[in-house]
Amino acid sequence: MKNFVSVNDVANINALVAKALAYKANPFKDKQLGAGKRIGLLFLNPSLRTRLSTQVAAANLGMDAIVFNVDKEGWALEFEEGAIMSGNTVEHIKDAAPVLGRYFDILCIRTFPALQNRTDDYSELYISQFIKYCGVPVISLESATLHPLQSLTDIITIQEVLQASSPLREERGQGVRRPKVVLTWAPHVKALPQCVANSFAQWVNAWGEADFVITHPEDYELAPEFTNGATITHNQDEALADADFVYVKNWSTYNDYGKIYENDPRWMLTEDKLATTNNARVMHCLPVRRNVELSDEVLDGPNSIVTQQAANRVWAAQAVISEILKP
Ligand code: CP
Repeated sequence: MKNFVSVNDVANINALVAKALAYKANPFKDKQLGAGKRIGLLFLNPSLRTRLSTQVAAANLGMDAIVFNVDKEGWALEFEEGAIMSGNTVEHIKDAAPVLGRYFDILCIRTFPALQNRTDDYSELYISQFIKYCGVPVISLESATLHPLQSLTDIITIQEVLQASSPLREERGQGVRRPKVVLTWAPHVKALPQCVANSFAQWVNAWGEADFVITHPEDYELAPEFTNGATITHNQDEALADADFVYVKNWSTYNDYGKIYENDPRWMLTEDKLATTNNARVMHCLPVRRNVELSDEVLDGPNSIVTQQAANRVWAAQAVISEILKP
């Protein structure tokens, strides 16, 4: 693996999931793989899980990790080619990225969309400029349109839950079950990026081992390049019926870009709605707005696997770093 910015960088999703679960069972089995190597984690916006899980993953592989909050501690970066830098930006990525590439063996970058101009955000200028100029492998810690480490984690978590239930199913002669996975839009107070939803859709479609349904209010369509292959409905009740996994996530509008059209509280996932599913496990990438996106009862209830999901961020990051370090 050269870079990790989307599912397209993964040759075999199930093999990567198996690798991650092997690290979960034995975190230090490749302690020597990263010895003497250094990973840089650059953040242009806040993070809890991504930042810490990637640091833990690097440490498990014997790597030194250095975090740099570029937005707070670095010079304001310019990303546009040919820019006349007479404004607020201080350093061009063309100058900064090669320097960073000399300090680190792997660079990890988190950027965020401005949600002002769809063409700009979906061009993924920031991460592609890092890749172009740094000269070392790049791992996305979330970009303007995708969050691949989160999505790998999500597939790992779904697989883990399915594997845990498979001995019982085998005993009953029921074999391996193809799960119904539902991605449901939820209300939120802020306009959020589409990246977690885009990325989840891209990965579940590429994985191909689930019946995948996306449900959202009218006007919240996601980019077809990521959702093609999923069943899409504006009827949340219909989508949730018999679901095995419900992934809850807000996103702002894609077509009339970056807006909140409505915040109908009836789209919040509640116990009543969960009762219509096949005892579905409930997922969310976190952070979550309690009693806006999901009710306390659901988040604190037995079907919530959000902590298991967030804990699996370590094993996803470890599997990806390991693939990049692999001789
Ligand atoms: N899910 C996720 O990316 O969490 P953080 O924003 O805290 O890293």
